[in-house]
Amino acid sequence: MSDAKIIKMDMGNLTGGTAGAVRPTLCLGIESSCDETSAAIVDSNRNILAHIIYSQIPEHQKYGGVVPELAARAHILAIDEVVKQTLAKAGKEFSDVDVIAATAGPGLIGGVLVGWMAATGMAQAAGKPLVAVNHLEGHALVPRLCATVASGAIGDANVEFPYLLMLASGGHCQILLVRGVGNYELIGQTLDDSAGEAFDKVAKMLGLGYPGGPIVDARAKNGNPRAFQFPRPLCDKPGCDFSFSGIKTAARTFLGRVTQPLSDEYINDFCASFQASVVDCIINRLGNAVRDSRVMAAAPRTLVVAGGVAKNSAIRSAMESLAERHNMVFAAPPMNLCTDNGAMIAWAGLENYRIGRVVDSPIAPRPRWPLTEL
Ligand code: KG4
Ligand code: ZN
Repeated sequence: MSDAKIIKMDMGNLTGGTAGAVRPTLCLGIESSCDETSAAIVDSNRNILAHIIYSQIPEHQKYGGVVPELAARAHILAIDEVVKQTLAKAGKEFSDVDVIAATAGPGLIGGVLVGWMAATGMAQAAGKPLVAVNHLEGHALVPRLCATVASGAIGDANVEFPYLLMLASGGHCQILLVRGVGNYELIGQTLDDSAGEAFDKVAKMLGLGYPGGPIVDARAKNGNPRAFQFPRPLCDKPGCDFSFSGIKTAARTFLGRVTQPLSDEYINDFCASFQASVVDCIINRLGNAVRDSRVMAAAPRTLVVAGGVAKNSAIRSAMESLAERHNMVFAAPPMNLCTDNGAMIAWAGLENYRIGRVVDSPIAPRPRWPLTEL
C-alpha cells in the first residue's frame, strides 16, 4: 500500500441538535465483546474526537487465550473510567453526546453485558437514543469511517456500497457482499475455525504467546514460505467457503516430528509457510467470490478487508494484487481500527441512527448474532 492515503467521506445531512443546526451528530461508542474495553466519540463528519482502548491482553497472556470470566470482571473494573477519560479527551460533556451505541453481540456474553448495560443505563438516565450494534457490523462498516485506499488502475475510490468484504477476526471468517447498512449477503464462511483462531493456535503450538496473529506475521517476514508443505483446504473445490482445521492439524503433525528445541530459523520458516497457506486460501476463495453470480450482478467496485486479521501484511498485499487483477480498488481500515475498538461501534451506531435503527425497548444482548439476521 505504498501509495495509500487516508480517505474521509461526506456523510450527507446527518446533523445533531435542533432542526437546521449544522453541528455534526456526536456518538459515544462502547465495545466490550472480547478482551478490549474501548470507548470512542465519533462525529457524523467522520472525525474521531477521542478513542481509548484498554487492552486486557496482559491479563490473559499467561493462559494463552481469553478467559471469559476474567474478561467480564476486567470490563466491569475498567468501563466507567474508559468512558470518563474518552469524554475528557474529546473535551466534551456527557450532555454533548447525541446518541449512544454499544456492542450487543456477538461475543463473550459476560463482557457484552457489561458494555451493553452501561450504555443502556446512560441512555435511559439521560433520555438519549441508544443503538444496539452488532460487533461484526462494526468491523464491516468501519472502512467507511476511515480507510487506506491503494491507488489502483481505476484510481482512488470511496468505500461506498456495495463492496465485497473479507471479514477475518478471531471469532469469524466470512466473505460478505455489503449492500448497505443492515444489508449483508453471506457469500462464503469457514466450516470450522476462523483464520484468527488458526493464527492463535499455531502460535500457541510454537510457544509464541497470545495473541498469535501479530507474532506469526512478524516471524513470517524472516522465514521461507516454501519450507513446509501446508495444505490448502478446499482450494481445489468450487465455492467460497473456508476450512482451516486441516492446516492446524498439519502444524501439529510437523511439530510432532521435532525432537530438538525449535530454532529461530525453524520458527520463522514455519510461520512463513503456515501464513502462506492461509493467504492462498483467502485469495483462492475471494477469487471465486468475485466471479459469484450475486457478486457480479451487484458489481462492487471495492474489495475490503476488515477484522483483526486485516492487520496481516501478507493478506493485505495479496488482496491488493487480487483487487488490481479484477479492476477493483482495495481498501482496508488503518491498523488501530482493525482489531476490536470503540470507534467502529460509534461509527456503526451513527450509520444505524441515520436510518432510524434505535432501541425503543430493553433488549437482551446475544452471544450469537449472525450479520445476516440484522
Ligand atoms: O477482530 P479482533 O480484534 O477480535 C475478534 O472480534 O475476534 O481479532 C483478533 C484476531 C486474533 O485472532 C489475532 O491473532 C488476529 O486478530 N490478528 C492477526 C494479526 N493481528 C491480529 N492475525 C494475523 N496477522 C496479524 N498481524
Ligand atoms: Zn472483533
